[in-house]
Amino acid sequence: MTIDSSAENSRERSAPTVLGAAVGWKMVDLGWGRSAVDFATLSEPSNCREYVSVHHRLGVGAGDRLIDVACGSGLAVELARARGATGAGIDASHRLVAVARDRNPDADIRVGDMHALPWDDASFDVATSFRGIWGTTPAAVAEIHRVLVPGGRVGLTVWGHLKMSPGAWALAPFRMADSARLENQAAMVSLGRPGVGEDLLARCGFVDIERVDVPFVWEFADPEMFARALASTGPAYEAIQNVGEEAFLEAATQQARELVRDGLPLRAGIAVVGYLARKSQPRQQKAAT
Ligand SMILES: C[S@@+](CC[C@H](N)C(=O)[O-])C[C@H]1O[C@@H](n2cnc3c(N)ncnc32)[C@H](O)[C@@H]1O
Repeated sequence: MTIDSSAENSRERSAPTVLGAAVGWKMVDLGWGRSAVDFATLSEPSNCREYVSVHHRLGVGAGDRLIDVACGSGLAVELARARGATGAGIDASHRLVAVARDRNPDADIRVGDMHALPWDDASFDVATSFRGIWGTTPAAVAEIHRVLVPGGRVGLTVWGHLKMSPGAWALAPFRMADSARLENQAAMVSLGRPGVGEDLLARCGFVDIERVDVPFVWEFADPEMFARALASTGPAYEAIQNVGEEAFLEAATQQARELVRDGLPLRAGIAVVGYLARKSQPRQQKAAT
C-alpha cells in the first residue's frame, strides 16, 4: 500500500497537524478518517478493557444519559448502551462517525468539534472521553462541564508514563513524524502528568477528582496486522506524511517481528491514566424558619 500522488492527496500531505486544537477541527478527518474501517475493526476493539473499566468506575447503567466526546468509531458508546445507558457521541471525523452511527443506530452521534458541543446545558448524566482530550485541547473539559447536569460524572483517559510501559514499542513508529508534530504530541500527553489533569478539572468546576490507573492492552494477530492497525490512526498519518506509507508500514512490521511469541498474540500493555470527577451540586438553600 502506498500513498498515491493525486492532487487531493498532496493537499492532504501538506495539511497541518490533524491533532492539535490550533488547526480547524474539520482537518481531523484527513488523518483519523482515512482508514476508518481499519481503525474500527483492527484498532478500536483492543481498547475495550479501558472502556469497561471506566464505565464500571463511573457506575454507568440504566437511565444514564451518556455522551462520549471524541467518540471515534463508537465502540465505547455501544458498550455504554449495552449497560442500559442512552448514548450520544461526537467526533470530528465524519468517516469515523459513519461507523459509530452504524454501530449505534438509536444513539445521537454527531460530527462536530468538542470545543463547542452542540447540545444544551445540563443534557447528560455522564460524560466520557477516551484519549480524546489532551493537554492541547483543555477547553473541551469546560464544555463537558456545561453539558453535564449538576452532580453529573465525568471520566477522561490519557496516556500515562509511556517510557515505563512494556508496550511502548507499539507507539514508537509515531516518532517518524516531523519535529513540529512530535512537539505537539508531547504537549498532548502532558495531561497525563501527575497533577495536570486534576488541576484542569478543578479549574473547570469539577469536584471529587480522582486519578486512577486504567487497564489498557493492544493485541495483534501478527506484525502485518499490527502495522495496518497502527497506520489507521491520526498520529500514524502524521508519520506517514513525513516518511510515506510504505516506509511506515515496513518499519512498524519489522519492529513487531522481533516481538513475535509462538502461539500467542503480539501484546502491548500501555500505561493509561483515568481522571474521574463530578460536577458540583449547588448548595441546598436552608429552609426558611
Ligand atoms: C485517540 S482517538 C480516540 C478515539 C476513541 N475515543 C477511541 O477510544 O478509540 C482521538 C479522536 O479524537 C477525534 N478528534 C480530534 N479532534 C477533535 C475535535 N476537535 N473534536 C471532536 N473530535 C476530535 C479524532 O477524530 C479521533 O477519533
